[in-house]
Amino acid sequence: MLITNEIKSAVITGGSKGIGYAIAKYLSENGYKLLLLARNENSLKAAVESLGSEHSYAVVDVANSNEVNNAINQFVNDFGKIDLLINSAGYVKRGTSSLAENEFMKMLSTNLLGVFNMVSAVVPYMKKQCHGRIITIGSYSGKVARSAMGGYAASKFGVMGLNESLYKELAPFGISVTAICPNLVDTEMTADVNMPRDKMIKTDDIVKTVDYLINLSANVAVKEIVFQCKAKLIQDETS
Ligand SMILES: NC(=O)c1ccc[n+]([C@@H]2O[C@H](COP(=O)([O-])OP(=O)(O)OC[C@H]3O[C@@H](n4cnc5c(N)ncnc54)[C@H](OP(=O)(O)O)[C@@H]3O)[C@@H](O)[C@H]2O)c1
Repeated sequence: MLITNEIKSAVITGGSKGIGYAIAKYLSENGYKLLLLARNENSLKAAVESLGSEHSYAVVDVANSNEVNNAINQFVNDFGKIDLLINSAGYVKRGTSSLAENEFMKMLSTNLLGVFNMVSAVVPYMKKQCHGRIITIGSYSGKVARSAMGGYAASKFGVMGLNESLYKELAPFGISVTAICPNLVDTEMTADVNMPRDKMIKTDDIVKTVDYLINLSANVAVKEIVFQCKAKLIQDETS
């Protein structure tokens, strides 16, 4: 086992695309050793190639606890520690009472069970280290439900409940826990949203929020950071 105290490490779910990839790029530029997790190997390979060969990836469905545990155990075996976990893997499908059951379950298993599986795998190592930080990309839909997004809201409200419990449970172990809750970020996930892309939140806004959090001292506890796309706020208030 290679213990490297100087070099920090981070595991990023959904690290091949969108918000997860933007955070991976920022952390790579700031000297972190990364493990990226997602299901599509080609996207993962392309992401790691663009970031640098010192990083690694594993093909993992976050809803599968065996795949998650194997990837995390392997990474700790190789690198020795995990300083930061970013939960960014996610899935969205519009719909509430008419949503198909399989789509509802896919959101629960990716968005909620996925975070639970990651935390279950990573926290025992962070407890042993007596430090660590967990940042989960929740959603504004985990704070305020909309009629058209009931299934997604159910999964993200669940994420916020889990986040708040972890925030309280893990503080005595030196582990900081925060959820970032945006809406309408300019990624593939919002490709079909009727809003000009230049009006959406940028992945760089999420990166700056991560930068803010990881540069706070370990004495500070931030449970959640909630922000909205201003154009969407204006649209909702004037319609
Ligand atoms: N974009 C927005 O407007 C917005 C707003 C609020 C919150 N969020 C949240 O932010 C997070 C990131 O969203 P994004 O916009 O970056 O989405 P994205 O561009 O669609 O990227 C999603 C990432 O998650 C991975 N992923 C999906 N299902 C997975 C699974 N079962 N196991 C492992 N990896 C999986 C995808 O790779 P594979 O498909 O290869 O697995 C991809 O890397 C999500 O949790 C989303 O709910 C997004």
